[in-house]
Amino acid sequence: ALCCGGGAVAAVVAWTGADLDTTGKVDFRNALAVPPLAESRVDGEGRRVFDLRAQEGRTDLGQGRPTRTWGFNGDHLGPTLRAKRGERVLVNVVNGLAEPTSVHWHGMHLPARMDGGPHQEVRPGATWSPTWTVDQPAATLWYHPHPHGQTARHVQRGLAGMFILDDEPTRKLALPHDYGTDDIPVIVQDRSFDGDGQIEDGGGTGDTVLVNGTVAPYLDVRTERVRLRLLNASAARTYSFGLSDGRRFTLIGTDGGLLPAPHDMSRIRLSPGERAEIIVAFRPDERVTLRSYPADLDNPVTDRFGGGRDTLDVLQLRTESNLAPSPAVPAALAPIERLDPGEAVKTREFTLSGRQINGKKMDMSRIDAVVTKDTTEVWEITKEDGTAHSFHVHDVQFQVLSVGGAPPPAELSGWKDTVLLAPNETVKIIARFADYADPDVPYMYHCHVLKHEDAGMMGQFVVVEPGQKAGRPATHGDHE
Ligand code: C2O
Ligand code: CU
Repeated sequence: ALCCGGGAVAAVVAWTGADLDTTGKVDFRNALAVPPLAESRVDGEGRRVFDLRAQEGRTDLGQGRPTRTWGFNGDHLGPTLRAKRGERVLVNVVNGLAEPTSVHWHGMHLPARMDGGPHQEVRPGATWSPTWTVDQPAATLWYHPHPHGQTARHVQRGLAGMFILDDEPTRKLALPHDYGTDDIPVIVQDRSFDGDGQIEDGGGTGDTVLVNGTVAPYLDVRTERVRLRLLNASAARTYSFGLSDGRRFTLIGTDGGLLPAPHDMSRIRLSPGERAEIIVAFRPDERVTLRSYPADLDNPVTDRFGGGRDTLDVLQLRTESNLAPSPAVPAALAPIERLDPGEAVKTREFTLSGRQINGKKMDMSRIDAVVTKDTTEVWEITKEDGTAHSFHVHDVQFQVLSVGGAPPPAELSGWKDTVLLAPNETVKIIARFADYADPDVPYMYHCHVLKHEDAGMMGQFVVVEPGQKAGRPATHGDHE
């Protein structure tokens, strides 16, 4: 990944206090990199085994010299892991860095000690081998480090990758599914660089947008329809994606899986951690730009960290003269059984303000909530300051019951694990905490603006068997 010839200058626009606008300033000179599918093998116990090694590297990020980056099995970012519902997976995570890290499986339903949060730290040179059975719908999940207080830095240096789940019902749908051809991972991250071309990793918004680690990227489109798996893996920025000629696209899935039916729209907003699967239709010989637009004025996210006022060119889509036919988007996708608030055994309130949740900063030795296994709960989340926050819950995929008292819009109507909080609007979610209990090892809930998370905007919950009490979480990794 070392190649710094050419010396073309990326669209770098320093943040001056004004809104950033890179429209027409990005030269789209680089073919979009597509992360390789991770190799795997099936071991004697029938488990699909992956190897992930966090390591240091160097990457050409358009700075005229190599930029020091971190990656899994490479210089920057990581391979795409892929597994089917019902499969047992095992990942050997090797820490080749000079400091502790962890790997969290964002969006995955799994036992807490396999979750890869701050309690599953992996020391330098150590190997951590979580194993679990994939048992949730086909979805676009991702993985990234989650070390206590250091998540922003580790992610901004490049430790992140996609984790695609497949299932039988989805395999039978006529959706674009040829990875790298008409089914494209789109990992969007913003970066800023210092005078030496090195990444500024303080967790703020950046002025340069990377897709799959590529600066100024274009994608050659060869089919009439393309499925884009959009992942906002940025530390702080919220994007409002649309296409430069105003064409509409079809939303087919959100964080935790497909929607019951496709939804036609022209903008999709993703806060840090959120995903959306969209299908875009093309004609021959076109050039269209995937762009991030200022947030809707009727629902503004106006502060600097949200990036809500910026306009950013993200990815140019170039179509060839002959496009292979693609089937129409199916009218029905994946049914979603609605969780019933009448069955909730508990309602909890979470208020985010000043880098705290409910007036408390994260404490690894404190359990903030005890949930009983196989029960349903309603969580009401509100933010009380002028900063953008997104709320993420580990272990579960939840359903949004309401936003500011109103029913959720289409993009919040499916399975979700992360949701952007708007000013003065309580978001009510409902989740079922099934299958796994462990009184001693907590899951996290937190703001996914990574520097807020690192500063303490995070809490811990344990799932216990009925009647069981919470144990005492260890404050260090539970593996040697
Ligand atoms: Cu994407 Cu707790 O993390
Ligand atoms: Cu926040």
